[in-house]
Amino acid sequence: LKVGVLVSGRGSNLQALLDACKDPAFPAEIVHVLSNKADAYGLVRAEQAGISTTVISHKDFPDRESFDAAMDRALRAAGVEFVCLAGFMRLLSEGFVQGWQDRMINIHPSLLPSYKGLHTHERVLADGGKLHGCSVHFVRPACDEGPLIAQAAVPVLDDDTADSLAARVLQQEHRIYPLALRLIADGKVRVVGNRALTDGCTA
Ligand code: GRF
Repeated sequence: LKVGVLVSGRGSNLQALLDACKDPAFPAEIVHVLSNKADAYGLVRAEQAGISTTVISHKDFPDRESFDAAMDRALRAAGVEFVCLAGFMRLLSEGFVQGWQDRMINIHPSLLPSYKGLHTHERVLADGGKLHGCSVHFVRPACDEGPLIAQAAVPVLDDDTADSLAARVLQQEHRIYPLALRLIADGKVRVVGNRALTDGCTA
């Protein structure tokens, strides 16, 4: 499965996917990395791994649709069959999402459907939650919605700060994102309505 990864920043989840793909037995390969930001560290990680990259700045386009169309062209030109969002910080248009229906996944730092959106760690702490985590899901037009493929939970500790909690969640992100991609590339995931059935495979 030829995978394109979309990033906007640090790219630690991209790195987890790159590392997983080093195993010759891994059923997917990353063929392209696209960023909307020229200074995203994820681009450096891609170049170090010998993966082609494209920078397409959303600021160069009059609207979301034309920006998304340019991304779509770049991904298809690179032979991408499947898209992983990895800290990509732009909302996607309905047309783009439909063009990659059930062929695009995202990682989100909360136990969805709780805590969609930004600043999840701060919000969990403010609410006094005892459990937090991360989710990999198929992308739908509404932000942070779509069939869940894998989730992992972590405890919230009394002395946590947003940073310490984020670090605990991030470790799990790096574990379940490659796992979810592997399940999909192995053909073990079926989308039925709002559920992704994984034949009993769990994170
Ligand atoms: C991660 O927490 C991910 O869940 C969220 O954005 C962050 C990206 O981190 N969508 P990185 O760029 O993968 O290091």
